[in-house]
Amino acid sequence: MLLTKENQTPENLLKKNEILDGVHSLIGNTGLIRLSRLFPDKLIYGKLELMNPAGSIKDRTAKFIIGKSLELGLIDSDSLIVESTSGNMGVGLAQICLYHGLDLRLVVDPYINNQTLSLLEAYGAKIEMVNKADEHGSYLGTRINRVQEILAENFNSFWTQQYENPLNPLTHHETAEEIVSQLGDYPDYILAATSTCGTLMGFAEYNEQIGGKMKIVPVDAFGSVIFGGKAEKRVIPGFGASKTSSLLREELLESPMWIREWESIVGCKKLLRHEAILAGGSTGALVAAMEKLDMNPDEKAVIIICDRGERYLETIYSDEWINKTFGTEVFELIKRKVDEGVEYKPFN
Ligand SMILES: Cc1ncc(COP(=O)(O)O)c(C=O)c1O
Repeated sequence: MLLTKENQTPENLLKKNEILDGVHSLIGNTGLIRLSRLFPDKLIYGKLELMNPAGSIKDRTAKFIIGKSLELGLIDSDSLIVESTSGNMGVGLAQICLYHGLDLRLVVDPYINNQTLSLLEAYGAKIEMVNKADEHGSYLGTRINRVQEILAENFNSFWTQQYENPLNPLTHHETAEEIVSQLGDYPDYILAATSTCGTLMGFAEYNEQIGGKMKIVPVDAFGSVIFGGKAEKRVIPGFGASKTSSLLREELLESPMWIREWESIVGCKKLLRHEAILAGGSTGALVAAMEKLDMNPDEKAVIIICDRGERYLETIYSDEWINKTFGTEVFELIKRKVDEGVEYKPFN
């Protein structure tokens, strides 16, 4: 209802703008938009997880795991929450733990970007930086060892364990349900980036419960070991992992699509140029995968806009960084790919 001068009473205005209590109540219920400029001839939609208050889909996971663990009595107000993360899960946990007054200790490694580190510190998380690489040359083993030590040293400590906790995928039954209710239909495809596989498996488990009406497509990185293969050095966080996830049930999924890091940068830049959406690397990978997906014109597909791009201003959105990291040839290739292809009509 559009309010006129006559009916603009406080009661009517109050009904229009429902006031929620607490920042955590704004997590979830994110927007769904059609990406009609980037994909003018297809029915492609973006689920705007960057709208969550701390900026990513992991706000949901952090809120759900902490909320349910409190409810189940697994933690109480004196618990120390512990996690090994250098990214969005840390930020999501930092927000929700601060809100609930819970102590949080995050074990991070030197690959953490400066912006995320500053964010975590601003939210009041206690940071432990490991400095020794493990026998595979990665910090993952060292981080997990340090988590184990913290758990042993602190009586009332709790590891949220995002790679194994069934509450991680359970979070995203609701995300999937939101998509279906916003679309008023089951999308034919949902494309999800893979890291812990929580998002992916949440969609897949929901799909199993409703009788398999959708196709859930994992989008992984070259050099990730989630679906097998050998770990290779990757620099863009959010898609791909150097460790497998016990949450994965491949039988519920379509075949994975593998995307190169430079392709994810092209995806990010196209999304920005055509849709004015500044998002992170995993979203760029989903855009790149979407362009490759063979679908009929009347089919609908949803990609997840996983997090905000501000965290990547010094990497994905920095020409200098791309040049330094991938070399001039790839930098030029990215520029060409961003310019070619989809026709840009800003005022249609
Ligand atoms: C930006 C971004 N996209 C996607 C993902 C993948 O999510 P999941 O851990 O549910 O597989 C993550 C995980 O941290 C992320 O930070």
